[in-house]
Amino acid sequence: YVIGIDLGTSAVKTCLMNEQGQIIDEASCAYKLYQEKPGFSEQKPQDWIDGVMSTIQEIVGRYTGEVADIIGISYSGQMHGLVLLDEAGEVLRPAILWNDTRTTAQCEEIVAKVGKERLLAITKNPALEGFTLPKILWVKEHEPETYAKAKHFVLPKDYVRYVMTGELHMERSDAAGTLLLDIERNDWSTEVAEAVGIDRALCPPLIDATTEVGTLTEAFARATGLSSTTKVYGGGADNACGAVGSGIVTGGKSMVSIGTSGVLLSFEQTPDKNFGGKVHYFHHAVTDAYYTMGVTLSAGHSLKWFKETFAKESSFDELLASTEDIAAGSNGLLFTPYLVGERTPYADSVIRGSFIGIDTAHTHAHFAKAVLEGITFSLRDTLEIFRSSGKDIRDIISIGGGAKNPQWLQMQADIFNANIYQLQNEQGPSIGACMIALVGSGIVASFEEAVEKCVAIGEVFEPIAENVEVYNEIYNVYTQIYAQTKSLN
Ligand code: XUL
Repeated sequence: YVIGIDLGTSAVKTCLMNEQGQIIDEASCAYKLYQEKPGFSEQKPQDWIDGVMSTIQEIVGRYTGEVADIIGISYSGQMHGLVLLDEAGEVLRPAILWNDTRTTAQCEEIVAKVGKERLLAITKNPALEGFTLPKILWVKEHEPETYAKAKHFVLPKDYVRYVMTGELHMERSDAAGTLLLDIERNDWSTEVAEAVGIDRALCPPLIDATTEVGTLTEAFARATGLSSTTKVYGGGADNACGAVGSGIVTGGKSMVSIGTSGVLLSFEQTPDKNFGGKVHYFHHAVTDAYYTMGVTLSAGHSLKWFKETFAKESSFDELLASTEDIAAGSNGLLFTPYLVGERTPYADSVIRGSFIGIDTAHTHAHFAKAVLEGITFSLRDTLEIFRSSGKDIRDIISIGGGAKNPQWLQMQADIFNANIYQLQNEQGPSIGACMIALVGSGIVASFEEAVEKCVAIGEVFEPIAENVEVYNEIYNVYTQIYAQTKSLN
């Protein structure tokens, strides 16, 4: 058996997988998000540890076999969050998370000091508020006493692994989101660290997703009921693990994931393509592989906002069912999902959303459908960047909340003009974390083999030609809304 720990933003989900690749038990535990000032988003690392412990205790408590048979543990983690540790390995302040946007000034400072082109050449990514380096600079500037005590920084799941094993590392698919990694050289960038004036020694040793870092500490094993012979493997960033769990481990594969935020992601074999920083370009959890990805910050979040504001009494299923009779295009009503700003393709934390073209004929259902279409158009923006770089994307695996509704899956097929595949028994990134443990422990020889064992494709949704045509026309209008509304925000 192996255990996969998915350290999310709202909760930790821990899964137990057997050697046949089936998830046979799971437990989850929610924790608090502290948003005490506008733009701030923090969590207490001890809450993660408590959640991880209690979910493992729950699973071990139900488990009827020998705990020594649980041979490996790995992770999926929320990306980019800054955890600062002192000399003794103690946490110095709450973690600053990926969705914290306090660091616009630090992003400008990074660009000024490193140079826009140099930063892109080294890290393959632009300076964005969500990434880790601007958060380090924010602490250095605003909390100098804390910064002076910092010996290392780690990311959320790397901190959890450190507590469980006593070994301090940073895993590459997560390190790629710090803005301190030289992606092609596959090592920390001394040039970036020196240019912005942070000590390179803050960066822990790098490992791969499947690297065996050691075994559980006696104290952690005792506290959870696991055996201290249980081996621990690096793990991956949540988007990398979502990709692994969707079978995106070889060339030509792409995935769309619609949760609170939305992601369109595509496998890359090499780190040397040039997307001009328009999409994120990160190390994959698959060793020596990469992926590119665009992020719609407010995807499922837009639908949730609409439901809570205008359809409080309905369930999501009822709300989506109410849009079934509305033709593609919502009779001319358009929505842009920039409720909290946008990442791809605009990297703009100031822009806000809009409804355009409201007509007296429009009903509540038209508005609901326009929201679904706007979210999906925003993800098409990323697809267009991929396609214009020469990628031929005809098949996309769909996961997350957006993959639960057949009508929305058909809309994805029509708006993306691609075949959209649902997975059977989709488990999100936690299955990817289990698959990393399967590969790391040698139960399976490769990620391809892990995919054969664990990932089963379900229903396919093919594009309907007349809807594709309607959506192509409307998408042309949609793409003009950003430029036309930008000056109003
Ligand atoms: C990716 C990103 C989010 C987080 C969520 O760049 O910021 O998808 O990974 O945990």
